[in-house]
Amino acid sequence: MRIGVLTGGGDCPGLNAVIRAVVRKGEGVYGHRFVGFRDGWRGPLTGDMVPLDTAAVRGILPRGGTILGSSRTNPYAAVDGPSLVRENLAAAEIDALIAIGGEDTLGVAARLHAEGLPVVGVPKTIDNDLSATDYTFGFDTAVNIATEAIDRLHTTAESHHRVLILEVMGRHAGWIALHSGMAGGANVILIPERPFDFDKVCAFVEARFATHYSPIIVVAEGATPLAGTLVTRESELDAFGHVRLQGIAQVFETEIRGRTGRDARATVLGHLQRGGTPTAFDRWLATRFGLHAVDAVHEGDFGVMVALHGTRIDRVPLAEATRELKTVPAELYDEAEIFFG
Ligand code: F6P
Repeated sequence: MRIGVLTGGGDCPGLNAVIRAVVRKGEGVYGHRFVGFRDGWRGPLTGDMVPLDTAAVRGILPRGGTILGSSRTNPYAAVDGPSLVRENLAAAEIDALIAIGGEDTLGVAARLHAEGLPVVGVPKTIDNDLSATDYTFGFDTAVNIATEAIDRLHTTAESHHRVLILEVMGRHAGWIALHSGMAGGANVILIPERPFDFDKVCAFVEARFATHYSPIIVVAEGATPLAGTLVTRESELDAFGHVRLQGIAQVFETEIRGRTGRDARATVLGHLQRGGTPTAFDRWLATRFGLHAVDAVHEGDFGVMVALHGTRIDRVPLAEATRELKTVPAELYDEAEIFFG
């Protein structure tokens, strides 16, 4: 078979590990041939591809980013997009496609499969918000980077008796904030799933100072205030119609100063959470996802996504995998709240 591979959406550590595993097993065990499509769905949409063989994937296991490039291109937002994808795949004699991506990239894969395209999905995202898999690769790396940041913020916060606010990614799910905040001993963790009362946040700040320690607030970029407690900014939309989030930590900085008189500083961790080398867990997970994705293609089992359940890798229908976001359940947030203030 001649198999195409693409990586779409926001990049994350572990993408290269998947590509390597797909090619190593696909070529070495099954004798298939591969091409890489450049920059997510832009590759099949425009016919932009590069050769991909075992030599091309040597040495990339620990490397962050993606050797294929990525984009948030949506073929369904382009004129004749899906037809162009089909025509370009046929012209390149592609028998099957492996799409490595999150909700948006795999949502396109699910639609194209429903229209007859032989595609297998691999779940990636630092946000960990895909409901059909216990974990996506990239998440563990992001959590470790955020946890290290919190550890560092604690020591400088204590020196200056300041409130330090850390804004982390995660879009509309609070997984990164919850895991890193608990691991780093944050005094307040705010997530999109639980609208916050800003007066309570200020009360937690004062309670922490009362113990002669300095507060660390971890706020997810998608966290929202209870109506009337804080004014936040409007955001622009991307090609999939999602709001571009960022900036809540700066609002906190100003408002905490104004309301408590305490010195406050914001840190926005941003793309540091997505860059650099994957953790051992993410390399392990990404590699196993790659091995199982190429098995599915080899068996002609299309329209599925590989998923982690416990330590087992299963296949789930793409349509089901992209139906709803996995958000933080109330009981997990309640556990974290024990440590607030
Ligand atoms: O989905 C991954 C993610 O990093 C989100 O956590 C974040 O909201 C978004 O992508 C940022 O996107 P961009 O890289 O386009 O700024």
